[in-house]
Amino acid sequence: MNGIDFGSVLNELQKDLKPYDSPESNFVRMPDKGLGEDFLLNTLSGFAKKESQSWKEGKVSGAVYYGDEPLLSFYEKLYHLVSQTNALHPDVWPSIPKFEREIVSMSSSLMHGDDGVRGAVSSGGTESILLAMKTYRDFFRKKRGITEPEIVLPSTAHPSFLKACEYFSIKPVIVGLDENYRADVAMVKELMSGNTVAIVGSMPNFPFGTFDPIEELAEVAEDKKIGMHVDACLGGFMDPFVRDAGYDFPDFDFSVSGVTSISMDTHKYGYAPKGTSVVLYRNGDYFQNQIYATASWQGGIYFTPTLLGSRPGYPIVAAWAAMLLMGRNGYTQEAKKILDAGDYIKKSIEKIPGLKYIGNPLWVIAISSGEFDPYLVWEAMSKRGWMLNGLSNPAGFHIALTHRHTLEDVKEKFVIDLSGAVDSVKKGSVKASSMAPIYGMASVLPKESTDVFLKSVVEWLYSH
Ligand SMILES: Cc1ncc(COP(=O)(O)O)c(C=O)c1O
Repeated sequence: MNGIDFGSVLNELQKDLKPYDSPESNFVRMPDKGLGEDFLLNTLSGFAKKESQSWKEGKVSGAVYYGDEPLLSFYEKLYHLVSQTNALHPDVWPSIPKFEREIVSMSSSLMHGDDGVRGAVSSGGTESILLAMKTYRDFFRKKRGITEPEIVLPSTAHPSFLKACEYFSIKPVIVGLDENYRADVAMVKELMSGNTVAIVGSMPNFPFGTFDPIEELAEVAEDKKIGMHVDACLGGFMDPFVRDAGYDFPDFDFSVSGVTSISMDTHKYGYAPKGTSVVLYRNGDYFQNQIYATASWQGGIYFTPTLLGSRPGYPIVAAWAAMLLMGRNGYTQEAKKILDAGDYIKKSIEKIPGLKYIGNPLWVIAISSGEFDPYLVWEAMSKRGWMLNGLSNPAGFHIALTHRHTLEDVKEKFVIDLSGAVDSVKKGSVKASSMAPIYGMASVLPKESTDVFLKSVVEWLYSH
């Protein structure tokens, strides 16, 4: 396909994405006789040992946001107590909606919400975003008869917004960025139409860690009387603490009058185990459009506040416990350590000739170069064991700093390796990786053909 050999790309990916694929160790058919706990625990501990090394050493961007004992053992104890709970049955486990209500109101108070704020706990950032977009679609269909809804979003917004558009038949209208890699407000105004139901801004976005001008975007939304969603999935449990940690930060939450919804992930910088995010609305009129409820099913009364039916109680309990365990002080202290690490890394990048960071980030630092191919630096970093995220337009890579990078020597090692990687690129001793051609291809080929290519890779990943 346009110079890219599918087979050779898969061969390259095989060692990274299917390292355990061998006919002797694959279970493609259920064994007749169960294999026993010892076998299973031994097998799993082998995988766990291998796969935890990189993140434990702080060599992975984002992914594991805390990961230290004794928090992990605490979560294990919680699991033992609540492993059977299901939020679908509030009559059997009324404690679960109590925890959920408290997560929602604690989150709302972090976001300067008043008593009118409503929301729910979803399974992750993507679900929160899907729910918010579906909510705006339905709210404005009922309120204004909009049947061909559009959302306006910056090119840096998370792909889950595009996924929401695909799932719920909403048209995405994508706007470019200003010189600081933030949503271009003039372009937003230009591309709005009578069908626009919401504007999206990120605090921060995933690719460059930059912060969209929420106050300005919200003013446009308020003026047109449409929704304004702030995606704080990545920042929701950092943003409220940035000022207390000694750094400047703009207003972005319910204190800004045009903001109507916010997503914020407890399973990222909230330090809860994976499986929860919070979606908040300024009032119940919006939230009503998120809820599914039927009182006329033969199986009885049925309702779900989110996408799922059965919903494991454990992630909700763990998110609730994480918030109460950390408290505002705990989050502020962690935020300060992470922000200081970001400051150190940005200052160090300024001293490496040819290298630059993108925009004005705080803790997700995107790295690029005007002098050499940044994908080669990314490759040289991966040879040194770093698992960083590739970016395109502009080409580069980022590190999302977490608690793991505040541990002893990690940020210093990152900078030493970065400077060594740049030296080796300048000497011409780095060969392009398997991923660089894919990113290169994505930047030149039409979006439709790269998406089709990627779907084939995903099918390969999920087949024997
Ligand atoms: C800004 C932003 N929004 C949304 C998401 C989606 O979150 P999740 O992966 O939990 O679905 C992410 C994930 O990294 C993100 O960075």
